[in-house]
Order: sequence, then structure tokens, then C-alpha cells
Amino acid sequence: MKNLKFNIWGIIAFSVIAFSCGSTEDPLPDVKIPEDKEDIKDEGVVAIPLKELFKDFFPIGAAVTPQQADPGTNHGVALQKHFSSITAENVMKPDALQRNKGFYTWEGADRIVQFAKSNNMKVRGHTLTWHSQTPDWMFYDQDGALLSKEIAMEQLKEHITTVVTRYKDDVYAWDVVNEALFDWDPNGVIVYREDSPWYKIFGESYIDSAFVFAHRADPNAKLFYNDYNSIFSWKRNKIYDLVKRLKDNNIPIHGVGLQGHWMVETSEQDIRTTLDLFRGLGVEIQITELDLPVYLSNTEPGSTVYTDTFSFRQKQAYSMIFNVLLDYSDIITGVTFWGIGDDHTWLDQPGRKAFPFLLDEELKPKPVYFEVQKLVQSRQ
Ligand code: XIL
Repeated sequence: MKNLKFNIWGIIAFSVIAFSCGSTEDPLPDVKIPEDKEDIKDEGVVAIPLKELFKDFFPIGAAVTPQQADPGTNHGVALQKHFSSITAENVMKPDALQRNKGFYTWEGADRIVQFAKSNNMKVRGHTLTWHSQTPDWMFYDQDGALLSKEIAMEQLKEHITTVVTRYKDDVYAWDVVNEALFDWDPNGVIVYREDSPWYKIFGESYIDSAFVFAHRADPNAKLFYNDYNSIFSWKRNKIYDLVKRLKDNNIPIHGVGLQGHWMVETSEQDIRTTLDLFRGLGVEIQITELDLPVYLSNTEPGSTVYTDTFSFRQKQAYSMIFNVLLDYSDIITGVTFWGIGDDHTWLDQPGRKAFPFLLDEELKPKPVYFEVQKLVQSRQ
């Protein structure tokens, strides 16, 4: 078994080396997109690239790794074809950009930004302030004790200012604060995520500060509060109160990001009620991390095959979701999938693939893609 593993990795390593050697010697492939035969369905319907399909409504984005943001790869070609916006799945997070205090690692983030610029895509920055994927030195001293407010604030300010300033001309919107609210609390008693080291050091005031630092570094950037489970009453009311408080205090916040890690049985009414509620705040709304795993619940047995049942569920759910999003396109200024196609998603587990997107594992349109296309066309 060990040997087999070694052999497989050997083959993969060999292919990677062979491929990269080829790509350094040869000029980059011509990425002009030919009419894609595989996109044509039996009924003769040709897939319209997502960014064209939605061009009258909102930019369509994908979260990516730096390796995917490369025109010499299938992912790069799919990005160029379908998406008008891009987000770093991980490499703009604090632990990626500044793992060690004072030493920034820009390479991956720069690659993504460069790719976006060469392809006329918008860049959403994700994320400046989060309890997760953040290096310990931002919270603790060498003995493991929480930092003082003064030191932690100075470090947060330095991080946000450096990152936002670097990408001032390139990143048009930032998730300034991610997931600051307590997640499961139907009675709404616990408002903030109190186990976040940010909260332990500052209380909620770090949220205000983060927005101010980001705004000072780039007064033109659109600044977002981003969270998940945001369509449930117990969470959306907290988001509403937070954004309202920030706005009442003249803190520069321009939008709310609904992550959109939804389910195939997500309730239409929950989405509509949430959008109606946030409309009243006078902020932009973006769906920032859309993905829709095929399962009805976490206990449904996993599969590695995309079945007709999964396809049916996704057709219904994605059509409903995009129908609602089009209804609110006056306040929705972006929709980003948390990946490109079903080959790469943070939701996959061994033996249990999530198949959460409109493009399949080969980055070709799935039947659900055509269903969404039909819906959008009927709305034009
Ligand atoms: C996820 C990435 O997709 C994973 O690769 C990583 O291991 C963990 O983070 N909410 C967020 C995103 O705001 O940053 C998370 O991204 C998914 C949940």
C-alpha cells in the first residue's frame, strides 16, 4: 500500500515537473476561448459564460488558489471564461500574509491580483480581521498571555494598513471583519463570538477600529462585514444590529457579505426576509462564498458519484436562489462562488464529495448550469 502511494505520488510529481518544464519553455498557450463543443448539450443549447449571463445583474466571482490563477491551466481558462471577479480562498488571510510578525509573504496574493488585472476581473479581498487563520502573535505574547489592548491594536492597525495600502488600486472590496458574531443562540442573548481572542482583548470595539483602519488606507474601497448562517433569524438580527450601530456611529461600512454556504433545502423565505431586512440598512449586499453541497443533511450517506437525485436537488435549489438574487439585484453587487468547479472544494471529505458548484470536476457546465441559464434568460 505504501509503495502504491509512493508510485502514485511519483507519477503526480513527474507529471507536474513535466508540465511545468513544458510551460516554461513553450510560450503560454493561446487562451482565446473557442466555442466549446463539450458545452453544447443534447438539445443543442450552448452554455453562455456565467459572467455574460449575469452581466446585467452583478459580477460573478470565484474563490481561487494562486495555482488556479494561471492561464496555462484548465482552472485559469475556466476563470477567464466564466468569472468577472476573483477572491483568494486562503492567501490573503492574516496567517498567509503575515505568519511571522513583520515578515509579509505576498507571492500567492500577488499572483491572484496580477491574474485578475490581466483579465479585467475585479478582486474581493478576504479577509483582514478574523479569529481563525490568524497567527498567534497577533493575540498572545511569548508566554501565551493575551496581549494588551495597546499592542494588539497597534498590530492590527499595521496589518490592515499595510495590506490594504498594497492593494489599493487593485482590490475594490474587503471583508474587513469576518464572523465576529456568536453563531447559535436563538434567544439572541450572546451577541458576539466571545471566545474570539479579538473579543477577549477588546470587546466589540475592534470591529469599529478595523473598519476605520481599512477606510483610512483606502477611502475608495468598499468595506464589508462578512458572516455565515446569516439568513437565519437569530443571526441576521445580530448582523442588522451590528451594522446599524456601526452606521449610526459613522463607522465606514458599505456592505454585508452573506457567505452563502447554503443547503439544497435552503428556505426561499429566509433569503428574502434577510435581503428585505438588510435593504433597510442602506448597504450593499454580496453573496461572498456561495456553495451548495448535494446532501440533505450531514447524516445522509456520502457519495463520490454525482447522481440524478443530486442533480435534481441542485437544479431546484440553484434556480430558486438565483431567481431570488435577481429580484434583489438592485442591492446585490456581487455573487462569488467559493471555488470554481466540483474538483476543488473545502466541503469534500473522503468518500463524501459535495459537488457544490455549477461546473463539474472537469470544469464543464453541469445540467444545473443550464437550468440556471434558462432561468436568467427568462428574466432578461
Ligand atoms: C476556508 C477555505 O476554503 C479552506 O481551504 C481553509 O482550510 C479554511 O477556510 N468561511 C470563510 C472562508 O470565511 O475563509 C473559509 O474558507 C470557509 C468558511
